[in-house]
Amino acid sequence: MATPAHPHADPAHDRAGDPSAAHSAAPSGDPFGWLDEQAELRRGAGLVRTLRPRPADSPLLDLASNDYLGLTRHPEVVEGAALAARTWGSGATGSRLVTGTTELHAQLERELAEFCGFEAALVLSSGYAANLAAVTALAPHGTLVVSDAGNHASLIDGCRLARGTTAVAAHNDPEAVRKALDTHRGPALAVTDSVFSVDGDRAPLAELAAVCRRFGAGLILDDAHGLGVLGAGGRGAAQAAGLAGAPDVVATLTLSKSLGSQGGAVLGPAKVIQHLVNTARTFIFDTGLAPAAAGGALAALRLLRREPARAARARAVATALHAGLTGAGLQAVRPDAAVVSVRAPSPDEAVAWAAACRAAGLLVGCFRPPSVPDGISRLRLTARADLTDAEIEDAVRTIVRTAP
Ligand SMILES: Cc1ncc(COP(=O)(O)O)c(C=O)c1O
Repeated sequence: MATPAHPHADPAHDRAGDPSAAHSAAPSGDPFGWLDEQAELRRGAGLVRTLRPRPADSPLLDLASNDYLGLTRHPEVVEGAALAARTWGSGATGSRLVTGTTELHAQLERELAEFCGFEAALVLSSGYAANLAAVTALAPHGTLVVSDAGNHASLIDGCRLARGTTAVAAHNDPEAVRKALDTHRGPALAVTDSVFSVDGDRAPLAELAAVCRRFGAGLILDDAHGLGVLGAGGRGAAQAAGLAGAPDVVATLTLSKSLGSQGGAVLGPAKVIQHLVNTARTFIFDTGLAPAAAGGALAALRLLRREPARAARARAVATALHAGLTGAGLQAVRPDAAVVSVRAPSPDEAVAWAAACRAAGLLVGCFRPPSVPDGISRLRLTARADLTDAEIEDAVRTIVRTAP
């Protein structure tokens, strides 16, 4: 069911935030004294996060990064980044509207739009910024935004910053979206991840688009985990669902996962992109993407176009990981793309399981509250197109042997 609540007030939409957001400590002279209490609460709940700098030559087998196509260290991609830095300098030098648009940015936008099948594209400094731009610019006062309860934090924050109102719809439930849209007369949007980052499940995009069209609503889909993995040769979830280039569909991307670089983009009708250039605050008031990141992403995009089998291989690796783990009795969600999510009994056990994997030479992701929509902790594995069959078997053996 849709919940017509403002996302600020909705715990289902608050998982990116820290539960410490509110506090009632009396003034004590130390303006940050209340942080000690919050840190203690986190420790007690087993939810402390720490940074672990990785060395350049880590011997660990990596199933934790989002480098789905194994391109971040590909010589052509690294050379694309290095050449761009040598040609254009280390930084973009200004906002895209001032000095931050190089010919390289324009070329990347043309090729991204063409590859994914959209009329136009706009590159921003991150996928996060792209989602904030798309949602805020397309949902002014009077707009209803219907947002899936499992959406990524950046879409949620876009809803929070938008001047329109937000209704949170139950996860992957087109009927809930229909009911929410039916409550509203006026402009409306539905926003969804195409592939959800926690469980790797896919949104029912064709059904959502059909519901939106009944109400004249737009659809924004975040294809962070679909680009390079889904669709013909990795052209993404919109292409796979027959929605690429539709006048009522906007897609957002990150350049930091399958393209192995950094940055984000919005794809859509030319008039949407023009509107963003003129109004989107995370585009206008932000320095343009660094040339090296644009050059690396462009090189990766060209490589993917030349080697389309990489997309199918990433999906096949995910299927093989899932089959191995569930065959050994572990609970894992059947992957729709390249993310494989394995259930852990508790946050503490998830952390201990990931640590045991690391000690055995395998790097896996560990998701726990507040980064999960349902409070369930998981190991999160990413299938990489460049993993060998022996590495897949090895990874499965390690995860099974170290399971709590
Ligand atoms: C679904 C989704 N959308 C957006 C983002 C943000 O992209 P970026 O890391 O480029 O800011 C991410 C991941 O980081 C993501 O998983």
